Amino acid sequence: MAIKRPEPINQEIILDPEKTILSKTDKKGIILYANDYFVDICGYSVGELMGQPHNIIRHPDMPKVVFELLWRRILDKKNIHAVVKNLAKNGRYYWVVTDFTVDTNPTTGNIVGLYAHRKAAPRHIIDQVEKVYQNLLDIEKNAGFAASLRYFVGLLEEKGMDYDQWVASLAMAAPKEEKKKGFLAKVFGSSNNDSSGGFFAKYFSNKDNA
Ligand SMILES: Cc1cc2nc3c(=O)[nH]c(=O)nc-3n(C[C@H](O)[C@H](O)[C@H](O)COP(=O)(O)O)c2cc1C
Repeated sequence: MAIKRPEPINQEIILDPEKTILSKTDKKGIILYANDYFVDICGYSVGELMGQPHNIIRHPDMPKVVFELLWRRILDKKNIHAVVKNLAKNGRYYWVVTDFTVDTNPTTGNIVGLYAHRKAAPRHIIDQVEKVYQNLLDIEKNAGFAASLRYFVGLLEEKGMDYDQWVASLAMAAPKEEKKKGFLAKVFGSSNNDSSGGFFAKYFSNKDNA
């Protein structure tokens, strides 16, 4: 059954930084599973969520190009650390960073499930991303999707980064107060070949806390 879309209101839901919002979909983005924290935060019951397209929680402030990049990546069986503003049933919003796992049939290689783990997006990342998303949405509304995509590609080209690297670079640029609070030590700890200097590896290391 189609669900009525809520009217967005300008009130943020503050997420528990320790918890993970998890969902699983089929290869078309139809929801097959949502964990308790997902259900808690979005406000829909499991009965309302199952079998619905994942855009049930799409926020109108999100530019289409971000989902275009997200789908390109996951259908290519790769992860993407997307920063997404989501819409709860009561019209409130919450910001997350995603981490995707693609489950494939070992014989055919076909995608059988897509898993999204989400954590609260750090405030300093939201502040930067929101400005860019507002520009993308403005271009999308006035000049169309293709123009918005061209602009985003241009912006990333100028930085010499892909989307993930850009998000990772924002993650690394924690403000002074957060550095003082030991923020960096906490989340940037290990250094591996992830472009965020270990930020996301640490960030998603406790995926199972629901
Ligand atoms: C596993 C998985 C998780 C997703 N999580 C979200 C999400 O949290 N928020 C969201 O708006 N879209 C999410 N999407 C993308 C949606 O399927 C959809 O592409 C997006 O909401 C844009 O909607 P639209 O294609 O109708 O414009 C997810 C897709 C998959 C496969």
